[in-house]
Amino acid sequence: MLHYSPSKINCDSPMPEHPTLQPSPQHVLDRTLSLAPMMGCTDRHCRYLLRLLSPNTLMYSEMLTTGALMYGDVAKFLRHGDDEPCALQLGGNDPAALRACARLVEDAGYQEVNLNVGCPSDRVQSGGIGACLMAKPALIADCVAAMLAEVQIPVTVKTRIGINDKDQYEHFQHFIETVYAAGCRVFIIHARKAVLGGLSPKDNREIPPLKYDYVYRIRAEFPDCQFILNGGINDVASALEVLPRVDGLMLGRAPYANPWLLAELELALYQHRSIDRLAALDDYLGYMARQVEIGEPLKHMARHLLGWFTGIRGARAFRRELSTYMFEPGSGVEVVQQALIKAGLDQAPELDIPPSFAATASGA
Ligand SMILES: Cc1cc2nc3c(=O)[nH]c(=O)nc-3n(C[C@H](O)[C@H](O)[C@H](O)COP(=O)(O)O)c2cc1C
Repeated sequence: MLHYSPSKINCDSPMPEHPTLQPSPQHVLDRTLSLAPMMGCTDRHCRYLLRLLSPNTLMYSEMLTTGALMYGDVAKFLRHGDDEPCALQLGGNDPAALRACARLVEDAGYQEVNLNVGCPSDRVQSGGIGACLMAKPALIADCVAAMLAEVQIPVTVKTRIGINDKDQYEHFQHFIETVYAAGCRVFIIHARKAVLGGLSPKDNREIPPLKYDYVYRIRAEFPDCQFILNGGINDVASALEVLPRVDGLMLGRAPYANPWLLAELELALYQHRSIDRLAALDDYLGYMARQVEIGEPLKHMARHLLGWFTGIRGARAFRRELSTYMFEPGSGVEVVQQALIKAGLDQAPELDIPPSFAATASGA
């Protein structure tokens, strides 16, 4: 079932010349907690797995370029299941192409389409997409307007707080203002600038300082928008500290490295106790077996399990076993079962009392 109700804002064509101030369906998805889009990580298998622990997280796909989608195998690229609510992230800079792709995304059953204006990689930059587009707010406004004109699902933008020397608050404010005028009402802000040409993507996720105050300030200036804060939220305590000042949090590396963090956040934010790790893994084993049967290599699914037992005795042995054998051609789910047994993790009844639940239960 979709978690939003369509409204007029997204279906008028041609593109709006003036900002529309009608209530937008963009507000209807629960954005308290999101999983960040991550190339090479948040594919459909990963989203299926993490959904087992967290019914409330809004999942984001890896970035998909408009070129890949328009000239590639659409069904293959957009295939997904049991990961809803899920947003698909597009990379592009051509309003017509983005409009066409947004239609494909909606038709494929995603609940949101997101535009990447934050990726700093050289390859992405040489294609004129990602973070370099922060220098072209009017073009992003055209892109967003084109997408909004095509689909009913929310159209959102994920961006940084600046690029290179354009990192003053006023530049950021101008960018948001311009894209807002095209109808965008949900912004996901990775709260550090991108240094283009000077830093690797990895360094660009670590070196430029986080400036959450930009997000707090812009949120106060655009009260009919939602601002989702991203960057450096690594545990329940920091999530609880920051959440009251924004409309939601997006987490990337931390929950990928330790999926159980999502179970802890479910408990802290929704008072929802997830199924335990072994029960979820059992479900995923069934999923993997079905996927292997239709020709998907085991390694595509098993790699998302490498952090499954993070923080638990045996985690390292499990990871070692799994990464040794999952790449062997023709391997099946028995590789995961063997890794569990070898790591002594196949029977662990005490495994899954989340720390925050244990603290609550003991009155701490
Ligand atoms: C391996 C990896 C791949 C990423 N790929 C994307 C991507 O495709 N699109 C995007 O907008 N951000 C991408 N990011 C950035 C994340 O979405 C997020 O903004 C960043 O990791 C900061 O959040 P965190 O501190 O919670 O990890 C990627 C990050 C990582 C670590």
